[in-house]
Amino acid sequence: MTFLITAGPTHEPIDPVRYISNRSSGKMGYAVAEATLDAGHDVILISGPVNLSPPRNTKFISVSTSDEMFEAVHRHADESDVCVLCAAVADYKAAHVSPVKIKKRSAEFSLELIPTRDILHSLGRRQDRKFLLVGFAAETDHLEANATKKLREKNCDIVVANDARIGMETDENELLILFRDGERKKISRASKTFLARELVKIFSNSQQKRLTKKM
Ligand code: C5P
Repeated sequence: MTFLITAGPTHEPIDPVRYISNRSSGKMGYAVAEATLDAGHDVILISGPVNLSPPRNTKFISVSTSDEMFEAVHRHADESDVCVLCAAVADYKAAHVSPVKIKKRSAEFSLELIPTRDILHSLGRRQDRKFLLVGFAAETDHLEANATKKLREKNCDIVVANDARIGMETDENELLILFRDGERKKISRASKTFLARELVKIFSNSQQKRLTKKM
């Protein structure tokens, strides 16, 4: 199978030297990419800016902004059997990007922000998709309720939920996996490497089941 995996944060420019971003390290997405390769599958890794080296033997696509990630995902989604959207895409970007560095002044300054395009949602809306669609949900509160909402609204097959306070920038995570048919699975705190292996097994089994049902 071919897995398309997004990882890391995005950078949304404000001017040539400043951007809006978040604390995603990319570790979970890169661990899923490694585990996917170890399981003998192919990987298209679409990554925002991170301090990690891409695993060897992936088709690696480096992007910076949410728009670049959106374009790259849509260009390659149909080549894949499983799309795992692990990236922490910025929710907002600057309405206008200044072509020159914005100067410091003593007056108050406000920045107009507009929503970025939701990549996961745009794939979920596609009626013709053949790939299994997996979203991630990092929450600080009401984990299960928010993740269930995401599963429905973004029309995913699976949502992997984690507490953002445990998973962000660290090597460990704790996961709650929600499936479209209402099934749920919990994996207690473990290394991202271990969790990634479990996830890859779950994703490939789920895609296999989907395909058998459709035949
Ligand atoms: O709604 P929220 O951003 O928390 O949803 C998280 C999930 O949606 C993740 O799988 C993330 O990769 C994906 N996402 C996306 N494009 C966005 C925002 C989130 O693909 N613009």
